[in-house]
Amino acid sequence: MAAIKKEESAGSGRAGLFIVLEGIDGSGKTTAWEFLREALASDADVIFLREPTNLPTGQRLRACLQGKSPAPETDDGWMELFLADRRANVTENVIPALSQGKVIVQDRYIYSTAAYQSDNTDRAVELLELQKEFPGPDGIIFLDLTPEQALQRIDSRSGSEGREHFETLDRLERIYANYQSILPENCHRVDAMKPALSVGQELLDMIQSLRSRMNV
Ligand code: TMP
Repeated sequence: MAAIKKEESAGSGRAGLFIVLEGIDGSGKTTAWEFLREALASDADVIFLREPTNLPTGQRLRACLQGKSPAPETDDGWMELFLADRRANVTENVIPALSQGKVIVQDRYIYSTAAYQSDNTDRAVELLELQKEFPGPDGIIFLDLTPEQALQRIDSRSGSEGREHFETLDRLERIYANYQSILPENCHRVDAMKPALSVGQELLDMIQSLRSRMNV
């Protein structure tokens, strides 16, 4: 099993460990995050966060994603909402937890905004740069599968009428390509087509091995 490496720029001057899960819709990322939350439930040093959050900024976003509120018409309109939610999450949750030495396992972060709110790979790189104000993660895990495989999974779960805003083939193809242009070399890629249990176990092993190497 390959271990995830701590990002070079991150981690300095803070006690905790910040691990983020990324992937296109349908990659099983949230299922893996829930598996980890259950597996580590008795460990008070680990906290689980997700974006969009459950804060008012995140609730507003979920309503737009599910078509219950009018959706922004442009990538930039979406970006503003996601950045507002991220600022709230970083201020209220991430920074306090890291300074207390906690391990954060978070579902989606800066790579999601760069990949989802860009219509080409150059813009994705630019959007990642634009988010330097946020603390860098110590480990990035990308759940990898093709947009076709992801869409099949989404439709078998909720039918094509249950899709959310970004869940179309052309959007997922664009988002997947954007991810490839921004994920750092030391990002740990996991085969998301493996059974959910083995994906969850692989992630758990990676996180525990990173913790023991970093002494957190
Ligand atoms: P989820 O399905 O992982 O809960 O995320 C909700 C949707 O929001 C998903 O389609 C990805 C999208 N999203 C963005 O477009 N930009 C972002 O910055 C984040 C965090 C999520």
